[in-house]
Amino acid sequence: MVSNNLYALGALFKDPNKLVKLAKKIVELGYKNWDVHSSYPLHGLPRLMRLKWSPLGYIALILGLTGTSFGVFFTWWTMSVDYPLTIGGKPWFSFPAFVPVLFELTVLLASVGTAIVMLFIIFKFPNNRHPLHDTEYMKKVSVDHCGIVIEAKDKNFDYEKVKALFQEFEPDQILDIYYQEEEVAYKPKVFDWKFITFLVVIAVLTSAVGYLFNNKILYMPPFDFMLNQFRLGPQESSTFFADGFGMRKPVPGTVARGDIYYPFKGKPEEAGAKLINPLLPTKENLALGQEKYNTFCSPCHGWRGEGDSHLNGQFPNPPSLHSEKVRTWSDGRIYHVIVEGQNVMPSYAKQLTEKERWAIVLYIRALQRSLNAKQEDVQ
Ligand code: HEC
Repeated sequence: MVSNNLYALGALFKDPNKLVKLAKKIVELGYKNWDVHSSYPLHGLPRLMRLKWSPLGYIALILGLTGTSFGVFFTWWTMSVDYPLTIGGKPWFSFPAFVPVLFELTVLLASVGTAIVMLFIIFKFPNNRHPLHDTEYMKKVSVDHCGIVIEAKDKNFDYEKVKALFQEFEPDQILDIYYQEEEVAYKPKVFDWKFITFLVVIAVLTSAVGYLFNNKILYMPPFDFMLNQFRLGPQESSTFFADGFGMRKPVPGTVARGDIYYPFKGKPEEAGAKLINPLLPTKENLALGQEKYNTFCSPCHGWRGEGDSHLNGQFPNPPSLHSEKVRTWSDGRIYHVIVEGQNVMPSYAKQLTEKERWAIVLYIRALQRSLNAKQEDVQ
């Protein structure tokens, strides 16, 4: 009985030795489309069947190397080209620091990529059908038999001959295995609506569970978050203090982190007498002074310190920095004005570091000298 729907002829054995002999014979006869099924490993069979190595190992290797090279490129590009950051004085492309990232990317691409290739290309997912599923043959080989099938599509396949061949090796049972109707009709598609619905349902379910868990369940007692502890937020009132304010002033004498202690508060003359500019008038220091002067002082004092403000009278114009008075002031005296301000001029202590203030003083000295040059300066 040969049918168009015949998938294969199968032979079931209880004794694996008989099966191995049959397998050898099948190889000798040159069948190509055949397979062995067993519920326990039969050592040596893959070699006997002349099975080729699965390409999956090479695929994993290529994907892994792709991950590594992508990682090398990306760490190099981000850390040396797009956003160079000096970290701990290391070179921008500090290879050892990126080894963990490269390792992770290698493993990630190799594992996820291999699984995807295996499922979607080799197994042709979402196709999960095979003519051997749900057959008497499969039931038996997954319990206490082992079996061989020779597929009808093999070019040497001849129903009677194969049956005779099987019989020679005294199998417990010989089975005709047919395609089922829906298997013949079924054409697997990735964009099958059932499959898409399945994916959507999974996505919705996992999101819902994730949302509930992370936003609701984790916030129920006995879980406790520091965020929700008893404490006062900014601007909140408090009954604990007599004045009702939740926010308190720092204790007198508190020095904030990074604050520079300035001993000449309100004592400009003493500052002028005792402070000495620690910077030398080098090119770098003058350039720094120029940059900071132009940013913070020139809006009022003008580009050259002549008191010609860019503010067009919106703020009282300051006096010239080239007056006899300021020229004869010591560096420390000018520094003091930057720290404390003077009358309407506000303090610039918050905007400028100590070094930047001294650099500005250097730059003002350079301006003074250039606008009030004497004959000897030329020589
Ligand atoms: C918002 C405008 C403004 C800015 C910005 C400004 N100043 Fe002044 N500055 C003034 C005014 C106005 C005076 C005059 C104050 C007074 O009447 O004593 C003054 C006075 C001075 C004096 C004393 C001059 C004198 O003859 O008494 C110095 C020195 C000085 N400024 C330096 C600086 C430096 C350095 C900067 C930049 C860090 C700066 N100023 C930024 C407005 C400004």
